[in-house]
Amino acid sequence: MCGIVGYVGARPALGIVLDGLRRLEYRGYDSAGVAIVCDDELRTEKRAGKLSNLEKTLGDERFGSARADGAAARPLGRPPMVGIGDGTAGIGHTRWATHGGPTDRNAHPHLSRDGRIAVIHNGIIENFAKLVAELEADGVEFVSDTDTECVAHLLAAALTDLRAVGEPDGPQLLAAAMRRVVQRLEGAFTLLAVDAGIPGAVVGARRNSPLVVGRGVGEHYLASDVSAFIEHTRDAVELGQDQVVLITAGDIEITDFFGAPALGRDFHIDWDASAAEKGGYDYFMLKEIAEQPQAVADTLLGRLTEAGEIMLDEVRLTDQDLRDADKIFIIACGTAYHSGLVAKYAIEHWTRIPCEVELASEFRYRDPVLDRSTLVVAISQSGETMDTLMALRHAKEQKARVLAICNTNGSTIPRESDAVLYTHGGPEIAVASTKAFLTQLVACYLIGLHLAQVRGIKYADEVAAVVSQLHQVPDRLRQVLAEMEPVRQLARELAGANQVLFIGRHVGYPVALEGALKLKELAYMHAEGFAAGELKHGPIALIDEGTPVVCVVPSPAGRGVLHDKIVSNIQEVRARGARTVVIAEEGDTAVVPYADDLIYVPRTPTLLAPLLTTVPLQVLACEIAAARGHDVDQPRNLAKSVTVE
Ligand code: G6P
Repeated sequence: MCGIVGYVGARPALGIVLDGLRRLEYRGYDSAGVAIVCDDELRTEKRAGKLSNLEKTLGDERFGSARADGAAARPLGRPPMVGIGDGTAGIGHTRWATHGGPTDRNAHPHLSRDGRIAVIHNGIIENFAKLVAELEADGVEFVSDTDTECVAHLLAAALTDLRAVGEPDGPQLLAAAMRRVVQRLEGAFTLLAVDAGIPGAVVGARRNSPLVVGRGVGEHYLASDVSAFIEHTRDAVELGQDQVVLITAGDIEITDFFGAPALGRDFHIDWDASAAEKGGYDYFMLKEIAEQPQAVADTLLGRLTEAGEIMLDEVRLTDQDLRDADKIFIIACGTAYHSGLVAKYAIEHWTRIPCEVELASEFRYRDPVLDRSTLVVAISQSGETMDTLMALRHAKEQKARVLAICNTNGSTIPRESDAVLYTHGGPEIAVASTKAFLTQLVACYLIGLHLAQVRGIKYADEVAAVVSQLHQVPDRLRQVLAEMEPVRQLARELAGANQVLFIGRHVGYPVALEGALKLKELAYMHAEGFAAGELKHGPIALIDEGTPVVCVVPSPAGRGVLHDKIVSNIQEVRARGARTVVIAEEGDTAVVPYADDLIYVPRTPTLLAPLLTTVPLQVLACEIAAARGHDVDQPRNLAKSVTVE
């Protein structure tokens, strides 16, 4: 939710900031803007719409006055002044609008009255109305409808005050002014600021919103997440809560909001820089779907010790804590929530501990019964989803233990949890989640096995048997992916449908929900997922002649009753005119007479089947959206990382 980049070094900042924004555009794409410090002046440009609008406006400026290839960057006849492309410190922003519509005026950066200070922001400043009133009483005229603009004016006032009391000018002054300002702010924010009079410095601050530092040689970076700078450096610093960071070409200085020196946590980014590029695919989503076999394999890598024990990543919990758990809550949002719904089946089956799955946004408001023997599992790809973070904090206040499943090292949710299992999915750029979902499922299975093991319910050999099944999934996924052409063809046929329904039973039910969510997100179609047995209690009324119904069928080998029941459900919808699209296990001939379209996936144990059955639904949604002419990677109204409640 809003992407933020800052750079200070010896190279032209504009190109680096724009490249970083391109990688962060999944966080919001309502508008984009940059501010670059050039020779004691501030140059800014901002535009409503996608980053490409801003890039068009900037034209060749990103190459500066001296392009590497020696060609002139600007039209002949232009004065040889230091242009926006030459400055070596700057900030950039890509926005998902909260306060104020997505217009040029509301795009970030926001400037102080004299235009010498620029501020960008991710989050919501909850007390902004009070601050605006105060500033207006002092004669400040606001030029935007945002909550952010007040920070630019407050920062200008703080700098004036500090200069008035004789504080020496320079980067430290900018950091001191930022500390003064953030002490007055309520809510969630990541802020970056530059001052034309303090070249060679970018200051940042964070509370409840992400900010990481990239450590280069003679240059440093700030960004909402590491994908913005991985092509330049793999060494990063994770900031703590309520910290201010000052970067210059030679230094990174971190303090708390009151100026006391503070430490960040150094970490190395093992993602490949090319992982954040499209690599020949039309969309990031297609690339990420194709990466799923590898993502699953990577998430499984090194999880089983020689003694047959499952390894988590950061564990600040004892085995006794896990043995004491008498109830599990899984909290998550969106696709991550669907992975939690699958996890419930595996965890309860393997551990016999009652497990509830809750939408993180609802969790704390219904006053759930939690205590120190409750284990809360928070699932989040980004590690920054505000609803999940707030639910996690509520659980911790009630003394529950929290275990996080997360894809993003350096993010807030794992940092605030008692234990973490990182999914090794690599950067997921497409807004609609695919590989994150599959790796979350793998992580949930591993946690279920780990719990069963420490509680003495499963022996090492039983755990190893399931892990070995999991290790076979990447190959089976490759097989599924190799046979997707009929799904693409089907997508073209269904692109004109008014609605698509999805039904499933047992773990196939969350898969149906996920299939429907993908289609809503990407194709903007009415799509609903139902428990197949529930259909006759109402939703069957939606079925009309030709209504496509995607049916996720469990293995006939595993739970025969389940299989037979859903076959009856398929017959019921078909009898009412539905076009049935059946996802079934290879060799399941019982479904053949009732399937208008049949997609087989390889055999796999029932509990693990969602790792395979989800994939055709991802491809279906992606291809329907493409056929309808939508932007697959950046669907309207959405953002990948939702850092507001
Ligand atoms: C947003 C995204 C979804 C994602 C959800 C949870 O709504 O559009 O794709 O599943 O957030 O995100 P998280 O990062 O917590 O997994």
